[in-house]
Amino acid sequence: MEKLVDKGDLTNKKVLVIDDETYIRDSIRSFLEDFGYNVAEAENGLDAMSVFDQYLPDIILCDLRMPEMDGFEVLARVVNKSPDIPIVIISGAANISDTVDALRLGAWDYIIKPIQDMTVLLHSVEKCLERSHLFKEKERYQKSLETANSQLVQSFKVLKKTRDKLVQSEKMAALGGLVAGVAHEINTPVGIAITAASFLKEKTVSVENLLASGDLKKSDLESYLQNMAEVSHSILMNMERAAALIKSFKQVAVDQTIEEKRIFNFKKYLQDVLITLKPGYRHRPQIVIEIKCRDDIEVNSYPGAFSQIFSNLVMNSLIHGFKEKQAGKIVFDISSIGNRLEMRYRDTGSGMTEEQIKKVFDPFFTTIRGQGGTGLGMSVVFNLVTQTLKGAIDCRSVSGEWSEFHIAVPDIVTAEP
Ligand SMILES: Nc1ncnc2c1ncn2[C@@H]1O[C@H](COP(=O)(O)OP(=O)(O)OP(=O)(O)O)[C@@H](O)[C@H]1O
Ligand SMILES: [Mg+2]
Repeated sequence: MEKLVDKGDLTNKKVLVIDDETYIRDSIRSFLEDFGYNVAEAENGLDAMSVFDQYLPDIILCDLRMPEMDGFEVLARVVNKSPDIPIVIISGAANISDTVDALRLGAWDYIIKPIQDMTVLLHSVEKCLERSHLFKEKERYQKSLETANSQLVQSFKVLKKTRDKLVQSEKMAALGGLVAGVAHEINTPVGIAITAASFLKEKTVSVENLLASGDLKKSDLESYLQNMAEVSHSILMNMERAAALIKSFKQVAVDQTIEEKRIFNFKKYLQDVLITLKPGYRHRPQIVIEIKCRDDIEVNSYPGAFSQIFSNLVMNSLIHGFKEKQAGKIVFDISSIGNRLEMRYRDTGSGMTEEQIKKVFDPFFTTIRGQGGTGLGMSVVFNLVTQTLKGAIDCRSVSGEWSEFHIAVPDIVTAEP
């Protein structure tokens, strides 16, 4: 007879036969032992339960009607304790409704007594053992899947935390750049004011000396006053310039840390942010930045988000676009259509390949890994545009010629001519 389970698998399989009729137990035992099974016997349910605990059978063949404890009770206990151990009911032809009940309660199969063909029994045992084996395999597989899944969830959490940290450190780096920008920009007007003030001090001392010695002429005084007027004007202009720079830097810095909505002039804000980026392109005078934008576009939005977007775009043009090229142009072309703001950002740098265009917004995509690139810049821009600003962004480029980013943000323009 063809076997459903390998003979090798069965040599150590343990069968527990429960029946109150000795000759049935004996005939089943001797038949199954011929096929390599180990067989234990019990003459009723009570006896069977104590054998069960010590013997730990792989399959149970059980009569239903027995003294002390019947087959239903055995069935209930085994199903409750070890649902993966198959129970095959052996019951008389007259008790067919009992058999149906037993199947409902969790029996795996049934054999009608008297057993006329023992191979039917063998076939049932093999079939049940195979199902039980598959059942256990499935459980093992499910457990390993659950473990793998929880490990995945864990790794995902770690990844998310790392990404948040990187985004945070990116912000901090931007703030660091901002501080460098402030120092550099303010240096010039403050330097001019200091030179002018010390010139005035010198002139004042010499006028005082002339006055003390009684040599002060009218022309000396006139020339002193003339200098005084010009130089103090220059001091005032430069101090005002420094104060304006500090104010705009302060605003850009605050916007970068506090994510709040406010009304601001779009062009003015872009200019302020570009000043903070000056340390990045001051030493490359062949790179020109042009802003095409009406003076009167007022928006109600998140300036911090825009400042990060502008910074990433410009830094990318400088680092990637103009890495090889010495000269080039960056254009911010801004317009408003109803309440929608449209921004076309273009550089005449090295452009991108098809592959790069496809991946430019992917987190961690960078072509300068190991040289300070994390590949987060444009994914941060993408999230800011689509999530914070509820807008859209796309990228176009011709390799070797130009790159362009088109950003559209709805419902933010408040003033329109
Ligand atoms: N203006 C551009 N010109 C050419 N290539 C660009 C430009 N902008 C982005 N790229 C390409 O897209 C990639 C991803 O840019 P992204 O700003 O996300 O990362 P990154 O600049 O490499 O690193 P970082 O996280 O420091 O910004 C860059 O590595 C570069 O290959
Ligand atoms: Mg970048």
